[in-house]
This record gives sequence, structure tokens and C-alpha cells, in this order.
Amino acid sequence: MTTRDERVKAAEVAGYNTFLLKSEDVYIDLLTDSGTSAMSDRQWSGLMLGDEAYAGSRNFYNLEKAMQDIYGYKHLIPTHQGRAAEHMISQILINEGDFIPGNMYFTTTRLHQEIAGGTFVDVIISEAHDPTSLHPFKGDVDLDKFQKLIDEKGADKIPYICIATAVNMCGGQPISLANMRLVSEMAHSNGILVVHDMTRCIENAYMIKDHEEGYADKSITEITREICDLTDAATMSSKKDHLVNIGGFLAVNDPELADKARNMVVVYEGLHTYGGMAGRDMEALAIGIRECAEYEHIRARVEQVRYLGAKLDGEGIPIVKPVGTHGVFLDARKFLDHLDQDQFPAQALAAEIYIDSGVRAMERGNVSAGRGPDGENRKPPLELVRLTIPRRVYTQAHMDVVAESIMEVYDHRGKVKGLEFTYEPEYLRFFQAKFKPTA
Ligand SMILES: Cc1ncc(COP(=O)(O)O)c(C=O)c1O
Repeated sequence: MTTRDERVKAAEVAGYNTFLLKSEDVYIDLLTDSGTSAMSDRQWSGLMLGDEAYAGSRNFYNLEKAMQDIYGYKHLIPTHQGRAAEHMISQILINEGDFIPGNMYFTTTRLHQEIAGGTFVDVIISEAHDPTSLHPFKGDVDLDKFQKLIDEKGADKIPYICIATAVNMCGGQPISLANMRLVSEMAHSNGILVVHDMTRCIENAYMIKDHEEGYADKSITEITREICDLTDAATMSSKKDHLVNIGGFLAVNDPELADKARNMVVVYEGLHTYGGMAGRDMEALAIGIRECAEYEHIRARVEQVRYLGAKLDGEGIPIVKPVGTHGVFLDARKFLDHLDQDQFPAQALAAEIYIDSGVRAMERGNVSAGRGPDGENRKPPLELVRLTIPRRVYTQAHMDVVAESIMEVYDHRGKVKGLEFTYEPEYLRFFQAKFKPTA
């Protein structure tokens, strides 16, 4: 634990960016659920079974089999984490001048699409941009927006639509199977592929089981397979659903696409039977793929998130509703309604929460969205602070401490100052930017 004075200093040294804090200065770490989960005894045992052969490690085949059993994609190309898979699929499928529709942007996903010469187009339903809308499937695609893009740009300019499950940037909001079926039909009838960002697919499957009509009696694995069968390829950051600290992959059905990816992975990651992971990492991942689909686990995980959400909502704290799967998202625009969006209210609020209690959250708003082609801040409709909950790490008592701190900050919210950049990196600025309080 640290004192308030120590945290004031630490925040200043970190340029009011929670990514730049030292973890030893953090008390409860809700920065991200990425790579921060606790591995199980079975996963730790898997580390002892590492077959560290350069080529053809038996752990690769265990991993391939686990992925095929749970998700059903035919070919697996391992990577060190999700963005490497995004890089490959973007480079392989996107040509200069293409358009990539998606159910809301994700930071690394969009950047890789842009680097490959594409332009991301948001086709998520409008409710997703409204923190107060109670739509149960805010991850759904607006089919009219998708059709309009096809009509305006031509299907030949759209190599694929990127569909995320449990959409991160709008609060971990699920997409429904009913909507996915229609999206898949519309895409395929126009010769457009469906690429699935399945980072939190299991969490999405839990939401479908919980509240989509007709799925209450289906298992998490049955629902997961139904989702994946509607898509052609998937990028995976295994650091989330799969309960490992590092790892990921690209999964595809088309053998030609698989060959291209296997050829590319040797340039950037390593041989196609390890792709940047040690054999032991692949074994822990293979075990995690099966564990995360267990109902008892996924229920406990999502319900813990809901516990914190209900507590904050009950105290009148403005949060994104309904509560999503991997974290509770504070509506910083409402929380700090005296600040302009170009004073980065979500960034300022995350820093203030840290100073109050040592709880580390992160910004998901104007800083994360970056600058548009005109050089201006994108000013997204959602200006959020994400309290992301690692899996199998914290207790409900920790959640109570977090809630108390947020309430404390809410009580003196009028005193929180906005921020301005002192350093702004070119790519993914939210990771490394530094700020100072505005005068
Ligand atoms: C939805 C989504 N897609 C892609 C990624 C990128 O994965 P990684 O951080 O493993 O590179 C992340 C994680 O940050 C994510 O949440």
C-alpha cells in the first residue's frame, strides 16, 4: 500500500497515464484483463510438460486440437499475442483503398487495417454509442449501415467485415447470434469474408446463454461453435478468455489463406508450430482454452463484473449499462461534466481514482481514439474509464474497496482538473502519452 502523497507523486511522474505507473505502486490493478488472469493448477502443471523442440512440438498439436475442438476453425497459426494475428490478416486481405466495416473499432485492430491501406468503418448499432441505452446486445451490427457501405463503395472494396464478440470499446457488450447470422448471410452473399475478433468469445457466449431467446439450455461450447461457424477466420488474444499471461493465434478455414499466414508468421513471429510462444506456453494455453469454456468458471467471471457494476449503479455512479462482460465502464463525460472532451475527462478520472486509492483503471475515450486523418482528436461519443477485472484474481471484497474509492472521487468530482499533452506518441498514443493538469 502507498500513501496519498506517494500516489500524487507517482501519478505526476507517470504523466497522469496509468500505463506508466509502476505496478508496485498499484494496490488493486484493474488496468486490463489482458494477460493478468491467474493460471490454474492444471495450467501451471502444463508448463512442466513443455516440449521445447524448435519444430513440431507436441504442445503445438495439443493447442491445435483444443482450438479445433472448442472453436471449430480448421487451421491454427500461433502468435505471441492478438495484434500479431491482426497484422497478418490485415496484410494478407486488405489492399490500398479498401474499407473494413466493424462493430466498433479496437485500437490495435484499426491501426493494422490502416497500416495495410484500409479504412475502418463503424457499422455497430447506434445504441452502442449511448452509455444509457439498455439494449441487451449493443454489439449488434446495424445491417442498414453495412448495406449502405456495400452500395456506396462496392463489395469488391470490402475484403471482410470484422466482427468482435463482447465488444471491448463500448463496454464488453455482446453481439446476438440472431444478428450474427444475418451479418454472415449479408457478407457472404456479397463475397465478403467475416473475420471474427474472438478475444472474448466465451464471455459473449455466456451473455447469449443468459439472455438470448432459445439459448438458455445450450452449453457454452455449443453456442461458441455456432458463433464461429458463421465466420471464416478469427484473430485471438489468448491473454483474455484463455487465462494465460501471453499467447494468441490466427485461425482460418481456407487452406490457401492458412498457407499465406504460415508463410508470413515465419517473418514476424517464428516457425508456424510455435509462432512466438514457448512450447510450455502453448501447453498452458491449450489447457486454458478448455477451462475457459466451463460454465462454472465463465459464470463466476461475468457475475463478478456484474457485482461491481450493480454496486456502482446502486450508488448513482454513471456507468455504461447494461454491465458488460470484462469490466465496468464509468461514463467520464457525465462523471466530470465540467470538463471539455479535449481536456480528456476519462484520462483525468483514471488518474484521480489512482490518487484516491491506488486502484488502477484506464482511459477508453478521446486519448484511445487518437487523431483522425485531419489531425484532430477523434472525440468519440463514448468517453469512458474502464475498470477491467482480471480473471480468478480478486475477491468481492476487493470490488467493495474499488466501489468505495469511486464513490469518494464522485463526491469531490467538481475539483478534478482536465489534462493536456506534454508528450504524444505517433501510434496508439494512450499507451505512452504524458500529460499535465490544465491551468
Ligand atoms: C478486442 C481486442 N482485440 C484485439 C486485442 C489485441 O490483442 P493483444 O493485446 O494480445 O495484442 C485486444 C487486447 O488488447 C482486444 O481487447
